[in-house]
Amino acid sequence: MRKRTVYAWHTGKLSRPARLLVVSDLHNAEYGDILPLLTDVDALLMPGDAADRYRQGYGRALRFIQKASDRLPTFVGVGNHEMRLADFTDFRTAVVQTGARMLFNSYVRFGEMVIGCWYRPEQYGIRDMLPAMEAEEGVRILLCHRPEDYMHRLRKSKVDLVLAGHTHGGQIRLGKQGLYAPGQGFFPKYTRGVVDERMIISAGASNPVYIPRLFNPREVLLIELD
Ligand SMILES: [Fe+2]
Repeated sequence: MRKRTVYAWHTGKLSRPARLLVVSDLHNAEYGDILPLLTDVDALLMPGDAADRYRQGYGRALRFIQKASDRLPTFVGVGNHEMRLADFTDFRTAVVQTGARMLFNSYVRFGEMVIGCWYRPEQYGIRDMLPAMEAEEGVRILLCHRPEDYMHRLRKSKVDLVLAGHTHGGQIRLGKQGLYAPGQGFFPKYTRGVVDERMIISAGASNPVYIPRLFNPREVLLIELD
């Protein structure tokens, strides 16, 4: 059973509040207990690593995305695991066929919100979409899988909320400190919760490695946005 962590996030830009469910780092895991959480929310946001690059799998993740997309607007971003799939193009196509919005260095409007996903565009020869997204009206929500990328590169960006994952909460938690996170090494600075008053890091919805998560429940987020 996953923990649901609730965050209230005030922007002052919405004419009515919105509830967003965030599922990061599913890593192709079972998802049964998440399905009931898809009711009474306005959208599902997935900031990357729905797939599992170690096993090159995404079938279960895709079934989850299909079930979600049948119920509510669903926005799928990318993480390092999608980018390391041998058939990333097939993955993208399959996500689009579910009816979900596939975001890869791109953004879409969703009512009074604009939802985008930024993932190292220069590595893929893609133009950075952030300047155009920053010029959009409304609440700008950026999926940025790697929190260290936001801290090192995007802190000056004009967005209202950044949603990240990738760290799996630091795998083993010693009080408020995580032990290890990919991209940050041992005793990482940014592993979960609110950072820089603008980014919420999810500890992730699964565990794709053989090292257990300790004192670090798998989680999904509910953002109460107003
Ligand atoms: Fe991950």
